[in-house]
Amino acid sequence: MKNILITGGAGFIGSHVVRLFVKQFPNDSIYNLDALTYAGNLANLSDIENSNNYNFLHADIQDLEKLREIFKEKNITHVIHLAAESHVDRSITDPLAFVKTNVLGTTNLLQAAKEHWEDNFSDKLFYHVSTDEVYGSLGDTGFFYEDTAYDPRSPYSASKASSDHFVRAFHHTYGMPIVISNCSNNYGPNHFPEKLIPLMINNIIQNKPLPVYGEGLNVRDWLYVIDHARAIECIFSKGKDGETYNIGGFNEWTNIDLVHLLCDTMDKKLGRFKGESRKLITYVKDRAGHDLRYAIDATKLKNELGWEPSLQFEEGLGKTIDWFLANEEWLASVTSGAYMNYYNEMYNS
Ligand code: NAD
Ligand code: DAU
Repeated sequence: MKNILITGGAGFIGSHVVRLFVKQFPNDSIYNLDALTYAGNLANLSDIENSNNYNFLHADIQDLEKLREIFKEKNITHVIHLAAESHVDRSITDPLAFVKTNVLGTTNLLQAAKEHWEDNFSDKLFYHVSTDEVYGSLGDTGFFYEDTAYDPRSPYSASKASSDHFVRAFHHTYGMPIVISNCSNNYGPNHFPEKLIPLMINNIIQNKPLPVYGEGLNVRDWLYVIDHARAIECIFSKGKDGETYNIGGFNEWTNIDLVHLLCDTMDKKLGRFKGESRKLITYVKDRAGHDLRYAIDATKLKNELGWEPSLQFEEGLGKTIDWFLANEEWLASVTSGAYMNYYNEMYNS
């Protein structure tokens, strides 16, 4: 029986990972450790919160003593680490917050695991969830592979790259069993509306301007969040010690084409006339140091572990829009209060 600590389980991707593990591994104990920052929301897990094998632990990964207690009390055997500051724009305004959680917090977690496991690593695993942004920015062609040299360019990606290095350092120095995955942009239910797709969906619903950075020509590679959770389960169960796996959907879109698709799909769903939502598009000042293009080659994961995305983009986007339209209460609750302060600072100053 495993005691699996999933960090950041109240966030967007973490909540889908927790749900999958709680359902798929009824004989294991799943511990969701989360500090409940602005991005963490226990309502994301209301459907499984009473499951016998699920427990929530309110803790901050910056607090090493607390982590030591948790590892000991719960006899944690496996870690899936997702807790992070995750938004590039926030990292530009407050880089230190990203160092504290993403670099120091990850190293605390590694240290607590190492101490508890007392360098006896049989049947243990530290799985670190990372991002394709550590590889930097691509030109018009090419892909990120597992051996692409790191070249992070934002405070967010620099902090994630640093955390990846610490995870590998614990593997090489102490022999800790680890796997790392680097995934492309996720979208889907429960996505916090500071990120492109949910922010645009929310603004279209509310008839607010749709702020496209620069000329809208930056390219992202989008993957449905449940397919990311499936990939994490696949790597957790079948990945090889010390390996890195890239996760992506071979699904590249320029931001402006994606916003057009969102507008046209939502016009139909909301019964608006064709082209109505496109009128809301507003080009705004570009993001500082804006990476041009990300594109993941996920061939290794497909060939070695048999994972493939399950959904085509249009289908996933349709499901996502339907989820937001059916969960306006969720949307209203996460966009009240502090969100509006963030939004006004970010888009109206
Ligand atoms: P998110 O911002 O939605 O959620 C982050 C979660 O971590 C929240 O529940 C928050 O409360 C928690 N958290 C933050 N700081 C914490 C701390 N100090 N201690 C404990 N908990 C803390 O993030 P997400 O988009 O779900 O991303 C999850 C992970 O996946 C991150 O590591 C991110 O780098 C990585 N990732 C995200 C994407 C993406 O497209 N969103 C793509 C690839 C990788
Ligand atoms: O690639 C994986 C990464 O994807 C994850 O590691 C990050 O946690 C996640 O936030 C995401 O980073 P991006 O910066 O790519 O995502 P974001 O949704 O913030 O922006 C996507 C693109 O849309 C990017 O080119 C910037 C642009 N954009 C974003 C916002 C919020 C806009 O044009 N307008 C906006 O209002």
